[in-house]
Amino acid sequence: MKIIKKKSELKELLYSLSNQKIGFVPTMGALHAGHISLIKASKSRCDLTICSIYVNPTQFSSQKDLRNYPTDAKKDIKLLKKHHCDILFIPNDFELYENNLKSNEFDLNNFDKFMEGEYRPGHFQGVATVVTKLFKIVSPDIAFFGEKDLQQLIIIKYISKELDLKIVSVPTVREKNGIALSSRNINLTKDSFKSATIIFESLCYCRDHINKYDIVTLKNKVKKLFESSKLNLEYLEFVSIKTMHPVDVICDNLAICIAATIENIRLIDNIIINAEETN
Ligand code: PAF
Repeated sequence: MKIIKKKSELKELLYSLSNQKIGFVPTMGALHAGHISLIKASKSRCDLTICSIYVNPTQFSSQKDLRNYPTDAKKDIKLLKKHHCDILFIPNDFELYENNLKSNEFDLNNFDKFMEGEYRPGHFQGVATVVTKLFKIVSPDIAFFGEKDLQQLIIIKYISKELDLKIVSVPTVREKNGIALSSRNINLTKDSFKSATIIFESLCYCRDHINKYDIVTLKNKVKKLFESSKLNLEYLEFVSIKTMHPVDVICDNLAICIAATIENIRLIDNIIINAEETN
């Protein structure tokens, strides 16, 4: 695996490989099996797989959250080598932002109005900024993103519409106890890890009782469950995947999305109920 830090070097290399189908997996590191499923998806569809690791400051609304974001470059490199990633791009702030560490302003079609957009102001502008910068450098044929960050996935699909690339989504990978894999899980204590199973359990409860109760009742039942847990429920929303806006009645293309915190660690998850293909 070739490790590249400079965008000029990566561009030069990619120029010399211009007839290859390029798959791109952008990440913020602290890699886990969810990321590896993206690498595998890329390897199965593309000639060359590029992964990037860059903890993007502009998508963090809190400096503390940015500082606490887990990193483990050595382990990441080992894992990527094991899974035969071809190129790892690890830029620094200057390579991507020069001296202007700020988000650009994107039209996000109001996909950022609720949920993560509401709880993390500016988050998706930061994501859109860094992803478009990376796409410009890598020029991938296909870029791969996980369904776990569903709102991010829909937004990236939207901002990529005019670009000459395909966005492929890959299903969420879970721990045996149902918890969605996330880089942030590393910061959970054993106890918190156990308690956090309530997140996926609540999603499954809603999915399994969707024909029995209305949305308000389901939300209330989940709220009650959280009240007797160690987690703080930020939101539970039933949204249309077409708009990422909450709905009050069950409809097609529905996703149930949830965010909760435990010991200041923020976890998100979702279940897609009856969508047309997300790809
Ligand atoms: O999902 C992530 O890891 C990040 O939001 C991304 C897409 C790599 C942009 O920094």
